[in-house]
Amino acid sequence: MSHLAPVWFKLTDLQVASGEGSWVTTVDGRRYLDFTAGIAVTSTGHCHPKVVAAIAEQAGRFIHAQVNCYTHPLLEQLAERLAGITPDGIDTFFFTNSGAEATEASVKLAKQATGRPHVIVFSGSFHGRTHLAMAMTTSKTGYRAGHAPLPAGVFVAPFPRAIGQGTLDERIDACLDELRHLLLSQTAPAETAAMILEPVLGEGGYEPAPARFLQGITEICREHGILFIADEVQAGFGRTGTMFAVDGTGIRPDILVMAKGIASGMPISAVGASRDLMDRWPTGSHGGTYGGNPVACAAALATIDVLTEPGFLDSVNARGEELRQALRDASADHPVLADVRGPGLMVAAEFRDPVTGAPDAARTAAVIAHCRDESNLLLMNAGTYANVIRFMPPLVVTREEMALATTAVRAALDATA
Ligand SMILES: Cc1ncc(COP(=O)(O)O)c(C=O)c1O
Repeated sequence: MSHLAPVWFKLTDLQVASGEGSWVTTVDGRRYLDFTAGIAVTSTGHCHPKVVAAIAEQAGRFIHAQVNCYTHPLLEQLAERLAGITPDGIDTFFFTNSGAEATEASVKLAKQATGRPHVIVFSGSFHGRTHLAMAMTTSKTGYRAGHAPLPAGVFVAPFPRAIGQGTLDERIDACLDELRHLLLSQTAPAETAAMILEPVLGEGGYEPAPARFLQGITEICREHGILFIADEVQAGFGRTGTMFAVDGTGIRPDILVMAKGIASGMPISAVGASRDLMDRWPTGSHGGTYGGNPVACAAALATIDVLTEPGFLDSVNARGEELRQALRDASADHPVLADVRGPGLMVAAEFRDPVTGAPDAARTAAVIAHCRDESNLLLMNAGTYANVIRFMPPLVVTREEMALATTAVRAALDATA
């Protein structure tokens, strides 16, 4: 009998013994190309030598330097490093352990800074599994069902999906109209502390927020003194081919939430904002036992060193383009591939019945299973209808590994047709 709680959903039953770069090896010696990257976490690949060395060195010096008791040098070092790579205006950081803790912390900060109680989220979002984060999550009912009552004060606005009624521009306009309507009908601006959005919906189906939608949201926020929180837990740290998904959009979030790729797998997350905003978060009103753990900080610093190496993001974009091109080529023979989208290495292939347009979760699952069982390629789905394959390889994936993966997907599409 297993002594493990069955609550974890399992993508595979594989027992892994080690990982290196884009590969994991099972206890019985089988190697798998890992295009899940631990759900977009192992940005520098499994056990990048620089990250391993930084962890080992720091572990020998100090494992737990509790922030309320004393400070340690890596805290300031990491904050300074983050200030150098995050969007303009973000220069002050709070550290915690997971994505959910960070999204919750960002809302606590927004409430304290504005004195307002409510938050607006966008349909299809995933912000975590703790109670407030769960209340802010609308990607699937499975995360919420059976846990009611969830915290109040969360209002849901629509998100313009890649596939829907009318043109994308019409969908963007309709969503912005609904957002304005929400502020007139359900949560008045004077009650609304923040809007929180994933610039690319992750769990919700790898749906990039169109630039005009992002601009519209931030304009409405500015008009009403509402803070804009970018949840870049999944999209940040090079995943989208820029350091952060909002880079280059002209959007300056008031609060930036980071986790996953930040430390190649060590549990650390961060909330970034301006000094002025952070100064409005009363000392002692938030914290945590493990936040800013020195070993995790060391892993984050080493990860950032790797991600900022010359040409690193160019390679992310080149691999992403190879992937998108291969999927688009495949869609010519397999019209079930209704859409291929996503920046950098945050790429989605959406499966729909070519005749009815209905989401095709069965074919999605069959392709994922074929890739795993016949080609040793690990893939994961996403989306409310489980009809999207999300490709999130380690950002160090090579051209040869990408070719292996796209060949495997092509074979799976052919075999499951
Ligand atoms: C955008 C986003 N926010 C928050 C979270 C929650 O992160 P965690 O699972 O570390 O709590 C996730 C996790 O997938 C995520 O993708």
